[in-house]
Amino acid sequence: MSCFPCCLSEKKLGRRSLKKSMKEYHDTNTLASYANISFRSNSGRRKNETEEVRKTGSISSDVFTFRELSVATKNFSLENLLGEGGFGRVYKGKLERINKVVAIKKLDRNGFQGNREFLVEVLMLSLLHHTHLVNLVGYCADGHQRILVYDYMPNGSLEDHLFDLAPGRKPLDWETRMKVASGAAKGLEYLHETANPPVIYRDFKASNILLDENFSPKLSDFGLAKLGPTGGKTHVSTRVMGTYGYCAPEYALTGQLTTKSDVYSFGVVFLELITGKRVIDNSRPTEEQNLVVWATPIFKDRRNYKTMADPLLGGKYPIKSLNQAVAVAAMCLQEGDSSRPLISDVVTALKYLSAKKEKEGENVDDHVNAALS
Ligand SMILES: Nc1ncnc2c1ncn2[C@@H]1O[C@H](COP(=O)(O)OP(=O)(O)OP(=O)(O)O)[C@@H](O)[C@H]1O
Ligand SMILES: [Mg+2]
Repeated sequence: MSCFPCCLSEKKLGRRSLKKSMKEYHDTNTLASYANISFRSNSGRRKNETEEVRKTGSISSDVFTFRELSVATKNFSLENLLGEGGFGRVYKGKLERINKVVAIKKLDRNGFQGNREFLVEVLMLSLLHHTHLVNLVGYCADGHQRILVYDYMPNGSLEDHLFDLAPGRKPLDWETRMKVASGAAKGLEYLHETANPPVIYRDFKASNILLDENFSPKLSDFGLAKLGPTGGKTHVSTRVMGTYGYCAPEYALTGQLTTKSDVYSFGVVFLELITGKRVIDNSRPTEEQNLVVWATPIFKDRRNYKTMADPLLGGKYPIKSLNQAVAVAAMCLQEGDSSRPLISDVVTALKYLSAKKEKEGENVDDHVNAALS
């Protein structure tokens, strides 16, 4: 069983180019083991974790003590609580040593997710850097504690702005929705097409898209990320993980994971952005409970596309842009993974949808169709 490679120890990987680092580790077969971290036995486990995290610390992120993080969050007080997920609670905090406001995610030891996700997250985010990925400031692995420290995102997650809006919160306008979709697609493009070997994100969903002060999106939660297939293979086989509703059908059925699984999940979130509806909502009438099942017949007739638009948009969207957005979502949501576009084609198509105005003589339809043809 492989544990963490030791060749990471003395080098500051963060300073080197991602491609070079990825290639080097791929070549020496060590990066591949990052995504398959496993532990020998319970007795050897704690020693290995500490050792591995210590080595990870020499990559690029800062290491914090539990005391520092307690002070930063006023003892993890409820008044600092930002939210809660499968990993544990997330708190806002001010780190005096680096004079920075951060989001601090504290692993709940009884939680469903665990050490493996913690390690994968630290490693992935130490090696991967992009405008549309959240920045990992550092972590704490004192004793039993497993805590992650990120840049604080003042606008929370996309989920907070799309569904069950808090009183007084304004719904996102069409342009912002397209900007969020376009940025998130660029984040995926970086993972799929710049990282080497490719990284499959596996957890693309509205709550994992964080929004900075300008509503620029950042993908977060890399604990489930996997290295993509190498050596001519078309997929990686793995346990089915992720969130119900966002998972591609072939992955849910067979555990065979490809970058196209992420493209499907992107299609789901894009549909949520267009409609303002959650992918799964049991409070809706039976035939509307699954958003994709509800949308599939509507995809067939362009004249019905405007019935999909979120009523909170108040009809304020360019109809051409709406039609093209629905068409892009439909392509990403195709049953067969090989029929779905590459995320780079989606990025190209969205460039034209999120542009403020069509330039004279330019036709959005032509550009989008060319990108997806
Ligand atoms: N860097 C951050 N800045 C600001 N708020 C954040 C940050 N990270 C997380 N949050 C908030 O904390 C909430 C919980 O995040 P978390 O990633 O733990 O769970 P989740 O994504 O909602 O669910 P799951 O565990 O199923 O992925 C988010 O929805 C968001 O509102
Ligand atoms: Mg999350």
